[in-house]
Amino acid sequence: MSAEHLEHLFGLRGKVALVTGASSGLGIEFAQGLAMAGADVAVLARRLERLQEVAKQLETFGVRALPVAADVCDVTQIEAAVQQIHDTLGPIDILVNNAGVAPVGRAERHALAKWQQALDVNLTAVFTCCQQVGTQMIARGQGGRIINISSVLGEGANAVHHTVGYAATKGAVTNLTRQLAVEWAAHGITVNAIAPSWFPTEMTTDPRLGRVHESQQARMELFTPLGRLGQPGELLGAVIFLASPAASYVTGAILHVDGGWRAW
Ligand SMILES: NC(=O)c1ccc[n+]([C@@H]2O[C@H](COP(=O)([O-])OP(=O)(O)OC[C@H]3O[C@@H](n4cnc5c(N)ncnc54)[C@H](OP(=O)(O)O)[C@@H]3O)[C@@H](O)[C@H]2O)c1
Repeated sequence: MSAEHLEHLFGLRGKVALVTGASSGLGIEFAQGLAMAGADVAVLARRLERLQEVAKQLETFGVRALPVAADVCDVTQIEAAVQQIHDTLGPIDILVNNAGVAPVGRAERHALAKWQQALDVNLTAVFTCCQQVGTQMIARGQGGRIINISSVLGEGANAVHHTVGYAATKGAVTNLTRQLAVEWAAHGITVNAIAPSWFPTEMTTDPRLGRVHESQQARMELFTPLGRLGQPGELLGAVIFLASPAASYVTGAILHVDGGWRAW
C-alpha cells in the first residue's frame, strides 16, 4: 500500500482533536496517536505543567498542540476550554473522552464520596463533554468523531480490584456511547468506545510500590488469553482508526483492546 493510500485511509491532517485526561497514562498515548496521524491536538486535564510537557512532545510530530487546564467535572471550565480550543486551533473534529478515576474500596463500605467521584468524572463529565462538543459539531454540520474510553469492565465485573463505582460508570459509558451513536448518526457524528483491559499507568500502579502489584498482575494475566498486560503503543492504532476516514461507517462500536479478555 502506498503512502498516499495510507494517508487517504488514516490521515488526520487539518483535523482538530481534544483529548481529556492527557496529563498522564493512556491520554498521552491517545494524543500522540492523533498527532502522528496529523491532527492538531488540545490536551486537557488539571495538571498544567504536565500538559505543557505533553504539548511540546506532540509538536515534534509537526502539528499544533494546546495545553488546557480544566476540571472535566466543572461545566463552566469545559465551556471555556471548548471556546479556547475553537479560538486557537479551530472547531473540534475529534473528541476523546479519556479522563477517568478508579476509586478503590469494598462495595459494602464504599464511601459515597468515592462513588460520587466515579460518577462525576467517569460518567457525568463524559456526557457533558459530549454535549458541549457534540452541540458544536451539530451546528457546524460537518459531522465529527467521538471516542469514549470505557473499559473491559464496562461489560463485566472486576475480579481483581474492588472498584464498584468504576465498574458501574464504565458500564454506563459503554451504553451512553451506543445511545449517542444512534441519536447523532443523522448529523454524521460517529460515537464509538475503546475498551482496554489492563495497561500500567498511574491508575493501575500501586503507589507504595511504584509499579503494578505482582499478585494483581498475575491475576490479570490469567484472565488474558495473550497472557500479559497491555504495553505502550498498543492503543495507538485503535484511536487513529476510530478517528480516521477508514472508520467512516463504524459507529456505536466498542473496540476491545484487551489481549482477548472479552473473548471468553
Ligand atoms: N490503565 C488501564 O489499565 C485502563 C484500562 C481500561 C480503561 N482505562 C481508562 O483509561 C482512561 C485513562 O486512564 P489511565 O490509566 O491513563 O489513568 P491515569 O494515568 O490515572 O490518567 C487519568 C487522567 O485523567 C485526568 N483526570 C482525572 N480527573 C480529572 C478531572 N476531574 N478533570 C480533568 N482531568 C481529570 C488526570 O489528569 P489530572 O490529574 O492532571 O487532572 C489524568 O490525566 C480512564 O478513563 C480509565 O478508566 C484505563
